[in-house]
Amino acid sequence: MSRKKIALIGAGNIGGELAALIARRELGDVVLFDIPEKEGVAKGKALDLEQNGAVLGYDATITGTSNWNDCAGAEVVIVTAGVPRKPGMSRDDLLTINLKIIRGVAENVKAQCPKALVIVISNPLDAMVYEMKKVTGFPRERVVGMAGVLDAGRFQLFLAREMGVAVKDVRAMVLGGHGDTMVPITSNCTVDGVPVAQLIAAEKLQAIVERTRNGGGEIVKLMGTSAFYAPASAAVQMAEAFLKDQKRLLPAAAYLDGEYGYRDLYMGVPVVIGAGGVERVVNITLTSDEKAMLDKSAAAVRELIEASKKL
Ligand code: NAI
Ligand code: 2OP
Repeated sequence: MSRKKIALIGAGNIGGELAALIARRELGDVVLFDIPEKEGVAKGKALDLEQNGAVLGYDATITGTSNWNDCAGAEVVIVTAGVPRKPGMSRDDLLTINLKIIRGVAENVKAQCPKALVIVISNPLDAMVYEMKKVTGFPRERVVGMAGVLDAGRFQLFLAREMGVAVKDVRAMVLGGHGDTMVPITSNCTVDGVPVAQLIAAEKLQAIVERTRNGGGEIVKLMGTSAFYAPASAAVQMAEAFLKDQKRLLPAAAYLDGEYGYRDLYMGVPVVIGAGGVERVVNITLTSDEKAMLDKSAAAVRELIEASKKL
């Protein structure tokens, strides 16, 4: 059986960390792609990571390139191409710059990797993944956006710290758009099956919901650029679910065709990821408050998608 090829489009902060994680987990061979001006960075990171394999003992070929031909036939494509947020910028401020970049990337993905599962990370996430599907024309099972796993990770961490419990015992989801209107779901949130409302005061829970919504901005303010370790791990979790047919139930930005009452929209919902890509959208029961917040978030995403149609 030949090794899988995983193409990473963008060799910046997240791209480099993605390559490191994929190599260590031996999920396949990695192609680290960037624009010609950054080819040296892509090649340098690739070489450093291959040497890292000599030290750590993992087995993966990592190729740095600015040539799309090197990405040909990839089974998985993870897209971080674009610019990240600077302090004071919202994810949506990135729309104009990153839309143009995603359109170019999507044309090349369509030509070079016609059978790939495409995981989009670039922001504003929901509009970028919508554009990726539109330009490639790939079925919705094979174009998905990463945000929910990251946002849920942040929610779970803040809850665990507040309650003094192990973070791995906290299960929670964040749905909706990857922006200020995201919806951390409290009704289904548990600590190893115990409803979180039994373990934490309502006002503390609300403060954590707010901190989760600002989770990305909190890091941008500290570092001057956006997070990269957890975003990379979240995307690798999705890629691994596909490559190993794990049927993981994860929150991810999926194309909605009537689910939850929305049509022709990408937004964070629970999905099952396996060998078929996004094999299905899972309908869960939400409280009326959560559904109202989801409606608000869907409206914000739709606004962004409509804005990108005019650009
Ligand atoms: P970065 O600036 O470190 O890396 C981006 C890379 O994309 C750069 O190396 C740049 O040269 C490259 N690039 C630009 N145009 C390209 C093109 N046409 N083809 C290939 N590569 C191209 O940024 P970082 O930190 O890696 O973030 C990447 C994106 O991910 C940003 O848009 C950021 O906002 C987003 N992000 C999304 C998250 C999510 O939850 N969905 C979480 C964190 C960041
Ligand atoms: C994040 O959530 C900024 O989307 C980026 O870290």
